[in-house]
Amino acid sequence: MRRPLVAGNWKMHGSCTSVERLLGDLIAGVAEQQVDVAVFPTYVHIAQAIGLCTGASIAVGAQDCSCKASGAFTGEVAAQMLCDLGCQWVILGHSERRQYHSESDELIASKLAAVVEQGLRPIVCVGETLEQRESGQAEAVVASQIDGALREQADLSGLVIAYEPVWAIGTGLTASPEQAQDMHASIRGCLETADGVESNATRILYGGSVKGSNAADLFEQPDIDGALVGGAALDAGAFLEIINAAAQ
Ligand code: 13P
Repeated sequence: MRRPLVAGNWKMHGSCTSVERLLGDLIAGVAEQQVDVAVFPTYVHIAQAIGLCTGASIAVGAQDCSCKASGAFTGEVAAQMLCDLGCQWVILGHSERRQYHSESDELIASKLAAVVEQGLRPIVCVGETLEQRESGQAEAVVASQIDGALREQADLSGLVIAYEPVWAIGTGLTASPEQAQDMHASIRGCLETADGVESNATRILYGGSVKGSNAADLFEQPDIDGALVGGAALDAGAFLEIINAAAQ
């Protein structure tokens, strides 16, 4: 049985005041223990978030990290620095990183190695564009993203995959539960042949316009093990609704 994970990717949003308010409301509302909950603030709000979440059942992660350990890499943050702060998770290969920062599967693989080496838990994002879906390439694109990121990794026992179709991110369009389930089953198939991965124990999250109103139908699918939430994670009530749907 895979324990559900509901993760909130705050992207480039927030201020010290809003982080305090949002986490205060979330901590007051997250009583259930059947679901893992994690939030991903910007780098500058991570330390504050970790302080606020001390003693609460909400983990804190980063939205990205460098593949390098240290050195003259202006603007970058190393996995070890995240570890040092008390971060537990790192999102890698988000489609916005792939799109706006030209991240390749090869770069994502090297970041994954850095994260795993530090004992941080990676959430590797994959997903196709609308054009790729409409031309029937969705499964092949996602399979190749998985293969590219996971190849030659040392230990992937804590790996989480997030399937986020690019066309569903921030658009209000959600993959239907059936479309998402088909892709998640295909991803699980890919994981079966990946070295160092226990396919049946690996959580696969869905992301892309997840809200309280569609979460339950998505979570009913056998291969959907939680969600990576963007916009709705910035509203405590909406995020708690999704967490409660995962707890059912
Ligand atoms: P939305 O939930 O805003 O569509 O964002 C999804 C996402 O990109 C989470 O990483």
